[in-house]
Amino acid sequence: MKSDYVWWRDGVVYQIYPRSFADSSGDGIGDLKGIIDRLDYIAELGVDAVWFSPFYPSPDVDFGYDVSNYIDIDPKHGTLADYERLVEESHKRGIRVILDLVLNHTSDQHPWFLESRKSRDNPYSDWYIWRDPRPDGGLPNNWEAIFGTPGWEFDALRGQYYYHMFYPQQPDLNWRNPQVRKACLDVVRFWLDHGADGFRLDVFSNFFKHPDLPNNPPALGLRAFDRQKHIYDSNQPEMIPLLRELRELLDSYPDRYAVGETFMPTPELVARYTAPGLVHGAFNFDMLGCHWDPACFLKVVQETEKTMHHEAWPVNFLNNHDTSRSASRFRSGENDERLKVAAALTLTLRGTPYIYYGEEIGMRNIHVPRRFIQDGVGEKYWPIFDGRDKNRAPMQWDATPHAGFTTGKPWLPVHPDFPQRNVEAQRKDPKSLLNFYKRLIQVRKDLPALRRGLFQPLTYDPRNLLAYLRQTREQTVLVALNFGRRPVRLAVGIDLRQRSWRLALSSHHEKLPAFEAGGYLSLAGNEVLILVAET
Ligand code: GLC
Repeated sequence: MKSDYVWWRDGVVYQIYPRSFADSSGDGIGDLKGIIDRLDYIAELGVDAVWFSPFYPSPDVDFGYDVSNYIDIDPKHGTLADYERLVEESHKRGIRVILDLVLNHTSDQHPWFLESRKSRDNPYSDWYIWRDPRPDGGLPNNWEAIFGTPGWEFDALRGQYYYHMFYPQQPDLNWRNPQVRKACLDVVRFWLDHGADGFRLDVFSNFFKHPDLPNNPPALGLRAFDRQKHIYDSNQPEMIPLLRELRELLDSYPDRYAVGETFMPTPELVARYTAPGLVHGAFNFDMLGCHWDPACFLKVVQETEKTMHHEAWPVNFLNNHDTSRSASRFRSGENDERLKVAAALTLTLRGTPYIYYGEEIGMRNIHVPRRFIQDGVGEKYWPIFDGRDKNRAPMQWDATPHAGFTTGKPWLPVHPDFPQRNVEAQRKDPKSLLNFYKRLIQVRKDLPALRRGLFQPLTYDPRNLLAYLRQTREQTVLVALNFGRRPVRLAVGIDLRQRSWRLALSSHHEKLPAFEAGGYLSLAGNEVLILVAET
């Protein structure tokens, strides 16, 4: 590998939801030791880094995203010593560690909040956003929380309201308080000193609220949260200098990285936060809104290309712990051909690809009957939205009971297809989705143009066929993805035809396909075709 390889830009990131990956203790909840036991699998995939959803102490109102101590490990997941071994064993295998930092809010059980609520004049009193009731006893303003309540919760102990963007048990920190800012940056420093290579910043675009807390103006929407424009509770200008400071801190260590979860993102916001000197990456969620429609994906890519700073680096993903799995969005039955096309899309676009655990074996959503729903959002909005349990099911390792995830009772049901769909079975099958992901990751590693090259579409209004070039000065890669079940033909211009292509990968063919009369390349139904030419 050339020495200009930058792990977070050239590499592939794998997301692990620790509760659901591997349980070594038999309590039905995944843990760090379980992950360590499976690191060889992650290395075998060929990924460069793992993003771990939170494993800090948490009362689990929001399953880890309500943190009650930023600088420890929850006993249900392990100890700091386990964490240190996880870092060491990951690094030994060339895998970087990305931690999830949830700094917009804490748990209401965090000592900072427990102190803060005691009185109006204790040292932590201004660490959260407290306001008196209005003279008529009403809420301080009209802000709504996204999880289905007003944004303000009355605390009888302190006799005031506090603000929360998520559950009432997740009070928002007051980032305007210099002590909060310092304490949070100290958390970042703590993990940098404990071997973290990077951070995923949970809802970072919401850290600051307008200092006067004005009412948000109305908007059209179904839920109360959507019936206002979120202009005063998010994306405040103070975020830019904070990100600059954070970046300086990261840059004082070698090779560190930050990727932000832009909350309620637009391409413009993603562009704003990834400008030079700020975060290295920010998630753009627009692709998650695409049905199985290449025109939609192309539109998102072009919008991203158009909006982002030319030095900025996109992030590409089709899954995470908050979203219905792509295998269920794009497929009904057990056939994985479409998922190979989706994998090729994520892994050949310009940007860092993120793979969510289980995506590589095509894990489908589980069905969780109403009475067993664990995710509070699912309980609240059922049946309109059944929550996020469905995409957090235990990893399907093998055909043994509970898919080899645990010897106890798993915290969420294992998908019933696990006897057939599991890592062990797919390892043995050369045509499996898992082996296809591995080949794609390897091809990406081998071809600089796939990692670094410019993106140039070859199909402009794709119905079924999406084709594009990725180009550096030295290399051209042609990617053609047939989204349809029927064969299609790609018209290739004379200048491109004259190159000496070799086959980098095809999901259907062993040999380089010949150009047909008139300059066409034929693709089988759902074929992924990747050609490469040196210049
Ligand atoms: C982010 C997380 C989500 C969590 C929320 C509140 O959106 O991805 O899982 O519920 O933040 O922390």
